[in-house]
Amino acid sequence: MQSTKEKYEIFEHKKAEALAGGGPERIKKYEATGRLTARQRIDLFFDPGTFNEFDRMVTHRCTNFGMEENKIPGDGVVAGYGKVNGRLVFAFAQDFTVFGGSLSRSNADKIIKVMKQALKMGAPIVGLNDSGGARIQEGVSSLAGYGDIFQLNVKASGVIPQISAIMGPCAGGAVYSPAITDFIFMVKNSSYMFVTGPDVIKTVTHEEVTKDELGGANTHNSKSGVAHFMGNNDEQTLIMIRELLGFLPSNNMDEAPVKHTSDPANRVDDDLQEFIPADPNKPYDMHHIIETVADDHYFFEVMPHYARNIITGYARLNGKTVGIVANQPESLAGVLDINSSLKAARFVRFCDAFNIPLVTFVDVPGFLPGTTQEYGGIIKHGAKLLYAYAEATVPKITVITRKAYGGAYDVMASKHLGADVNYAWPSAEIAVMGPAGAVNIIFRNEKDETAKEKQVENYRDNFANPYKAAELGYLDEIIYPKETRSKLIAALDMAQTKRDDTPPKKHGNIPL
Ligand code: HXC
Repeated sequence: MQSTKEKYEIFEHKKAEALAGGGPERIKKYEATGRLTARQRIDLFFDPGTFNEFDRMVTHRCTNFGMEENKIPGDGVVAGYGKVNGRLVFAFAQDFTVFGGSLSRSNADKIIKVMKQALKMGAPIVGLNDSGGARIQEGVSSLAGYGDIFQLNVKASGVIPQISAIMGPCAGGAVYSPAITDFIFMVKNSSYMFVTGPDVIKTVTHEEVTKDELGGANTHNSKSGVAHFMGNNDEQTLIMIRELLGFLPSNNMDEAPVKHTSDPANRVDDDLQEFIPADPNKPYDMHHIIETVADDHYFFEVMPHYARNIITGYARLNGKTVGIVANQPESLAGVLDINSSLKAARFVRFCDAFNIPLVTFVDVPGFLPGTTQEYGGIIKHGAKLLYAYAEATVPKITVITRKAYGGAYDVMASKHLGADVNYAWPSAEIAVMGPAGAVNIIFRNEKDETAKEKQVENYRDNFANPYKAAELGYLDEIIYPKETRSKLIAALDMAQTKRDDTPPKKHGNIPL
């Protein structure tokens, strides 16, 4: 009979085996790539001492290719729950030192277990991905594991925040679960995402491309728009995820946490008074306006490297999280195109799903014209943003700082799409199109250039202003730029009890 001491020794031995992951040699090779191990990542991510692990003793059940002789407790994923700034969060971290972090059936079941717990408890789930994809030795069992994870990702979508970090080479199935989640973080120089790698591409299409060009952090943050954030290294990336969580509610029935601020709600920002250039074609940086009005001048930008002609991100107003969408005159004059419409539409839908009020700053000359946009389907992609705003039932507050022309006026959280309070600065220009374009159409037959210029001026004076819209009640108030912060806070305070029902339906049919 084993003594208690012996029983504890067996326990210690099994625990040590699990904690050793793929063993010292593989860990050494792995650490040489500059990455932290799965356990180091988990330790850094959670508040100290709060992580509780599930399924440390789980092993794979594969008997192909002599795998029955090669079992590592935990089977390449560390999973469990802990606290982030005192709030419950579930997480899993794939361990690349164990079969390349690849997904076995048992490994998938561990991930599914924490996902289900997160759904039941109404807490966010964070996946730290570092995986070669399906465990090749397991064949279809592994594919089944992926399929079950995808299904659960979809079930949890809009119920709890789902966040993915890509922290190594992620191929095949390892990229599709993150793609369904709400936010993807990547790490510069050590993370990659692709459906098929450079070797397969070379064989099939004869295209030569490096791993980094194909699916590195820069590519997915600036070109494809697959990723939302880029960290310089593992540590910074984990800190960024913690920060994002601080802006979000734990689930769709919850409110985002309130962060106390000593920044006065009635702060007056005189420098905004002269901020909009007198010349309507001169760009300015919309970030300045956002940062000026936000609590403590702090703005947490989402997708800062992609479709820069629109800005999306989180800030707090009087301690409460708001989702900010803003045209950026400094990039492509703030025009709406395919990429900016997609970026903003997904952001708006996330905020709506999670009770985060939307504040929209508008300076938009219209939709980008041209064959590239038309052939690319700007009609249906622009319609996504329109649909997202129209369907959103969270409080929607809009500030038109300068241009709001044409269809883009309607799309950018206009009164007509159900915005609760629409403000404009005196510098606003709200019309069907800009003065030059309008005169070119209305006075097409006018040959005298001087007369035409006069008409342009006439149009600008009479129509390129906020007063026609205000006369019709499409603006609730024209405000001084300096009072924007207090006006936004008052409107959000008023709208916090908003009820806005949609007729019962299975789901709408957003133009995908
Ligand atoms: C089993 C794997 C593995 C996998 C890596 N390993 N990927 N084991 N299944 N999918 C193992 C390696 O055998 C090796 O074991 C260890 O992990 C480290 O791998 P290396 O190749 O030495 O590392 P590195 O050079 O950094 O290259 C990483 C990599 C490469 C780019 C991820 O391993 C790779 O290309 N792997 C295969 C990727 C892939 O095609 N996966 C299947 C996708 S199909 P040892 O014992 O030597 O340490 C898929 C279908 C799902 O996922 C579709 C659902 C929609």
